[in-house]
Amino acid sequence: MTSPGLSKPQTARVAYFLRSLRRVVAHWRPIVLLLILARVAFLVARSNEFVRFELIDLALLLIFIASQIFWIGRLIYVEGRFIPGRPRRVWLAIITVMVYLFVFLYSHSEWGLSQSHVIWAADYRPQSVLIHAAFWWWFVGSVAAFFLVIVFGVAERAARVAEWIYRKVRSAIHQSSGAADAEALLLSSSRRRFLERSVVLVSATPFLAAGYGLLYERQNVEVVRQRIRLARLPKVFEGFRIAQLSDIHIGPFTTAEYILSCVAITNGLEPDLIALTGDYICWDPEAQSEVVRVLAGLRAPHGVFGCMGNHEADVGIEESITRLFAAQGIRMLRQERAPIRLGDEMLNLIGIDHGSDLASDAERQVEGDRRLQRLKALVMPNTVNILLIHYPHAFGDHELGIDLTLSGDIHGGGQLSLDFIHRGLNLGSLMGVPYIRGLYKNGGEQLYMNRGIGITGFPIRFGARPEITVLELART
Ligand SMILES: [Fe+2]
Repeated sequence: MTSPGLSKPQTARVAYFLRSLRRVVAHWRPIVLLLILARVAFLVARSNEFVRFELIDLALLLIFIASQIFWIGRLIYVEGRFIPGRPRRVWLAIITVMVYLFVFLYSHSEWGLSQSHVIWAADYRPQSVLIHAAFWWWFVGSVAAFFLVIVFGVAERAARVAEWIYRKVRSAIHQSSGAADAEALLLSSSRRRFLERSVVLVSATPFLAAGYGLLYERQNVEVVRQRIRLARLPKVFEGFRIAQLSDIHIGPFTTAEYILSCVAITNGLEPDLIALTGDYICWDPEAQSEVVRVLAGLRAPHGVFGCMGNHEADVGIEESITRLFAAQGIRMLRQERAPIRLGDEMLNLIGIDHGSDLASDAERQVEGDRRLQRLKALVMPNTVNILLIHYPHAFGDHELGIDLTLSGDIHGGGQLSLDFIHRGLNLGSLMGVPYIRGLYKNGGEQLYMNRGIGITGFPIRFGARPEITVLELART
């Protein structure tokens, strides 16, 4: 039979296409698995030094996709339970998917739905801020909740297998009656109902936590006081206090007003010197004037110094923002040192650029080596050397002679951390980053990793409060 308007060969081609499509749909699981394995094989075959990160990225992407399919399916299921009639349920499912796609595309739009990509976060319009906030709340909550659902699912299946084995063994030994089996089945189904209810309750927790991190913890600044003992600190510097601010990231979710409140807190701590350890903007180069304007309010008798973060390098504003800071009396140290004098004694304060994270591997290697050579030339023997660097790549290189390194960059473990349960349970550590938060010691060297005050990516902090640090120097 021929379809109206189509010739016989065309109809045959359409029928063949539909048959192939049905086959693909029927075997989607092995096809997806094969595609994933092919991608993994491709990444492993390239075997460069970033293969581990690329594999982690792939795993996160797959978990994200799986979680979105799972939760949209659950939403449609729940809607279907409350709304009778198949046609209505179909329409509801279509509306749910459309709303999801709108919010997703709005948050990732390069097609004019919003002014910019959510990660580039330079769209200050209230409706954009609201939709981005909703998207990220859903993103973080749904992925974390999906993890919990998987854990529960595995536990439930393991319990079922154990119960099945137990029943088999029991019936083999005691020749159990049908009544005993029926009783076991009843117990098993009531346990399953209890487990299902538990999963619903437990999987709600990440959504609550993401809401708390978005609305409260994101700007719940903690002042951390840290004593730093330095073997060769001159006596006159005993009790010298350095306030450290890092990862400012001015943007729609880290507003000028919020940064001004951090400036006021810092000034209220009356530090002797203030150190800024990079990432003043998110991705919008035009925000540089505004962030410099608000940070210009920082006051300390020995001055305000800083270094460049990767975000300044990524958008090419290192020179312009350095000039803007200089006009406000804030000195960015770019492969430079500044003597901090007290009486006849001094500390040697050094600042080194981070460089761009968007550069190629080869460029980063060359730049990294060049900066390391420059750093060696800036270190002063028989003096306390304090290094400001956005991320401490050279920490542990004892030949350098750095006494104290101040850094940031990791936002206390990627802004999501369960370190209060177990140290190392955070996004940064899961990605293989060695230095996350707080004080590290290696031989005579010390490193302080500040959690930063701003955010990038998702506007949520959980278990990683924004931080202003006061480092009080002391002699050993
Ligand atoms: Fe940062």
